[in-house]
Amino acid sequence: SVSKDVQKMLEAHELLKKFYHHLLVNTKEGEHALDYLLGRGFTKEVIDRFEIGYSFDSWEFISKFLVKRGFNLEMMEKAGLLVKKNSADQYFDRFRNRIMFPIMDHQGMTIAFSGRVLAADDQPKYLNSPETKIFNKGKLLYNFHQARVHIRKNQQVILYEGFADVISSVRAGVEYSIATMGTSLTEEQAKIIRRNVSDIIICYDSDSAGIEATFRASKTLSLVGCKVKVALLPDGLDPDDYIKKYGTEKFKSDVIGASVTLMTFKMHYFRRGKSLQDEGEKLHYIENVIKELSLLESSVEQEMYLKQLSTEFDLSMEVLKEQLHRVSKTEK
Ligand code: GTP
Ligand code: MN
Ligand code: MN
Ligand code: MN
Ligand code: MN
Repeated sequence: SVSKDVQKMLEAHELLKKFYHHLLVNTKEGEHALDYLLGRGFTKEVIDRFEIGYSFDSWEFISKFLVKRGFNLEMMEKAGLLVKKNSADQYFDRFRNRIMFPIMDHQGMTIAFSGRVLAADDQPKYLNSPETKIFNKGKLLYNFHQARVHIRKNQQVILYEGFADVISSVRAGVEYSIATMGTSLTEEQAKIIRRNVSDIIICYDSDSAGIEATFRASKTLSLVGCKVKVALLPDGLDPDDYIKKYGTEKFKSDVIGASVTLMTFKMHYFRRGKSLQDEGEKLHYIENVIKELSLLESSVEQEMYLKQLSTEFDLSMEVLKEQLHRVSKTEK
């Protein structure tokens, strides 16, 4: 029956999570993987807490392990743990020579894995379990099962791009940290967040992909009623890099503590790489900002940012308000 299949799949994931972890921390073959993690700044505590593991460099180590324990290989292929050879009824291990991050659902059941390569240029960098009966990427938020109680207690959540960012953040003492599975935030994920909290800080990587993704996620989150702020990082860094470079205290005060409103983030973005000495670019910037301001609900907020523009560019509030009204009309 379906539920018996699900039961078996969950059982296999739970067992493999522990096995991969054992292979990482207790075996000779896992030593280089453990060294890699420690070298990146992962501590023993964090490796235990997130139950990080290692998959051996073998095509059949896991399939043999599963056979020995009576699991059906066809079902294990459906669970995403094994891959079937094109022709024959032969199965091999999906995850080979990778750092294994177990993925827990929001109840804490292990339902998938993400495996990271050790060598910088191997591809793909992260290999995820496929969508299965028990794993739906678009509904899952990484670390939500551990973070939920802290999210509710602090009425705050931080959304990251990657597992490493969540783990570093938790290591820094910021427990209300979650991430998507390397994909855009879905409406379903946004709704799950909103059911628990309204204040969210997006802390994505400071590269073009991360900035684009921040725009998309903030829109999705605003639509479900979240109050969005954005944590800004120096160009090119991600939160994990930042913590490694500047330490946890500076991360908490200068990144998380200094997170800005969505509007300020957009203003920051509009002038990124531009020279506002240039008249044309300056004008374009001011027009862009006013267009965004026209979308704000609160006139208090609008006035606040207009004042900023007025001061920075030495323009009268009168002219700026007139422009705002003009834009508001054409937007409707
Ligand atoms: P590290 O290099 O280990 O620090 O990872 P990262 O989290 O900084 O990775 P990156 O910013 O490149 O990507 C963010 C997230 O996207 C990762 O945590 C993964 O979930 C996902 N991701 C990255 N690369 C791949 C990939 O090659 N395939 C898939 N499916 N997901 C990826
Ligand atoms: Mn352990
Ligand atoms: Mn990235
Ligand atoms: Mn990153
Ligand atoms: Mn990273």
